[in-house]
Amino acid sequence: MTAPDPGSARGKAGALEVEHVALELGGRPILKDASFTVAAGEFIGVLGPNGAGKTTLMRAMLGLLPLSKGAIRVNGAPVVRGNPSIGYMPQTRSGLAGRHVRGRDFVAMAANGHRWGLPLANAAARADVDRVLDLVGARTLAMRPLSELSGGERQRLLLAQCLLGDPKLLLLDEPLISLDPRHQTGVVDLVRSVQRELGITVLFSAHELNPLLNSIDRVLYLGNGSAALGTIDEVITKPVLSQLYGSPIDVMRVNGRIFVMAGDVEVDKLDHAHEDGPEGHSHSHDHDHAQGHGHGHGHGHAHHHTGTHSHDV
Ligand SMILES: Nc1ncnc2c1ncn2[C@@H]1O[C@H](COP(=O)(O)OP(=O)(O)OP(=O)(O)O)[C@@H](O)[C@H]1O
Ligand SMILES: [Mg+2]
Repeated sequence: MTAPDPGSARGKAGALEVEHVALELGGRPILKDASFTVAAGEFIGVLGPNGAGKTTLMRAMLGLLPLSKGAIRVNGAPVVRGNPSIGYMPQTRSGLAGRHVRGRDFVAMAANGHRWGLPLANAAARADVDRVLDLVGARTLAMRPLSELSGGERQRLLLAQCLLGDPKLLLLDEPLISLDPRHQTGVVDLVRSVQRELGITVLFSAHELNPLLNSIDRVLYLGNGSAALGTIDEVITKPVLSQLYGSPIDVMRVNGRIFVMAGDVEVDKLDHAHEDGPEGHSHSHDHDHAQGHGHGHGHGHAHHHTGTHSHDV
């Protein structure tokens, strides 16, 4: 692991503090009592079986869902809807592949919002769009329509969209879904490099741990209504995972990869076996990309970023 010493940020207010949080949906308990603190500048992998509450927890951080108990603080402040310091990539991203809108215009949609018609705001929004496209190395590919981009390339533009407005915390919900393994690695590497460059905090949910192994600082594992946050060695263990799954779990390490097994079945294969369809989901949430970001606030910052990346995504 090449973690940048997230420990140095501990002791100060965490980037994300979750204290005895309970969450319910339709009267069903999703989380019962979750407590953890993410330090500023950490890259956290969020794992757990289908339905464990990964998406629900992210929505609670965005103020889209009331807490039934406990408190969440983002950069020391209570959760607020439309918080401009959080960038969000929702899990459901249906239909992007069929859209003929130019990549740049797609990214800009989330920046402009209601500000169309205000020349100064538009200039600032344009500068922000340039900034985020440079950050993900997508200035050139953003000239093409979404329908002509690969899944990995579209993913880069979605990441660019989340970076509008210069958020300090990114919530990325299943950015690897429906990508082939090569593109998965490219997306993880891209997020990691942008996260380091900006010094921001990232929560990155995924079905599978292995694509994240070399990038994440710590892992947040949800299951059985609770949450465990720690290093891979602390969390990806027989006792911790057996508790979170509510059944006996084995952890096998083979050639630098980790397999989480229930009996002789790999749990992520088991859980997500039904997710092979085009959109890959058996349930969906009412996300809308153009409004799911909480941006459109304060695009008047000066951005001095000039670097570009070239990633094989
Ligand atoms: N509107 C709703 N009303 C009631 N239950 C819901 C609602 N939305 C989601 N759920 C349930 O809440 C639980 C948590 O869902 P959530 O989407 O947060 O899980 P997840 O960990 O993100 O799962 P996945 O890996 O499939 O994305 C699931 O059992 C889901 O079926
Ligand atoms: Mg989810």
